[in-house]
Amino acid sequence: MTRPGPVLFFDSGIGGLTVLREARYLLPYEHLIYVADDAAFPIGRWPEADLKARILALFAELIATHRPKAVVIACNTAFTLAGEALREAHPRVPFVGTVPAIKPAAERTSSGLISVLATPGTVRRAYTRGLIDSFAGRCHVRLVGSDTLAELAERHMRGGGVADEVLLAEISDCFVERDGQRTDIVVLACTHYPLLANRFRRIAPWPVDWLDPAEAIARQLVRVLGPNAAEIPAQTPDCAIFTSGPQDPALRRLLAGFGLVLANEHGVRPQET
Ligand code: DGL
Repeated sequence: MTRPGPVLFFDSGIGGLTVLREARYLLPYEHLIYVADDAAFPIGRWPEADLKARILALFAELIATHRPKAVVIACNTAFTLAGEALREAHPRVPFVGTVPAIKPAAERTSSGLISVLATPGTVRRAYTRGLIDSFAGRCHVRLVGSDTLAELAERHMRGGGVADEVLLAEISDCFVERDGQRTDIVVLACTHYPLLANRFRRIAPWPVDWLDPAEAIARQLVRVLGPNAAEIPAQTPDCAIFTSGPQDPALRRLLAGFGLVLANEHGVRPQET
């Protein structure tokens, strides 16, 4: 008997869709609910204590309402801050996190020069420093915090124009030349950034590997669900809940492309799958 309940995905905006998309390929029968706390977006600039309290309060409500079989925190900014506290507060719920992919980058780099492109919050976190100390001691790691890239990714995906020069100004610090070597890997440490990866590839000063952890996170979800993965298709449509209650038709169309219906009530309760 598989455990009922949806898998809940969380981000501050549409960035976590990059992770949901990969999970959908690997778990075609699972009932998915996507939650975006867009009323707080962008969270990369929030003070840590306020943001942590907000995330914990929101999850107390989400878990009571939806009784998920697993939760994917598809957001580096949220997980590096509140991941541990969420697991402590909800010990029966398996949480899959998103952290900057510094370990795989350190294993793959040839030049030893890695850059981590993230929100200002993720760049400041003790968690991120800890990953560098534990896994990338032999590399030169450049942390690049962008104030605006998550918003630019949202604008790009909702059909607004974003000029190449504006994007280049945000990523150019990632490109380092030192002792005849060049950066060869840029870690996309915000789930919004893979939405701009094709643009980055086109404007980059030289080719690098843009590391997107989405597939690895989806594979971790498969491992965590184990025998609890759904074996028959869910009867309930996959939905997205945005905390600001948007009515935007462009957002509806975008979500439809990811197989999601926009549900505006915060407390929407799916039927059991
Ligand atoms: N998508 C989020 C992340 O992975 C952050 C976006 C924001 O600043 O709200 O960090």
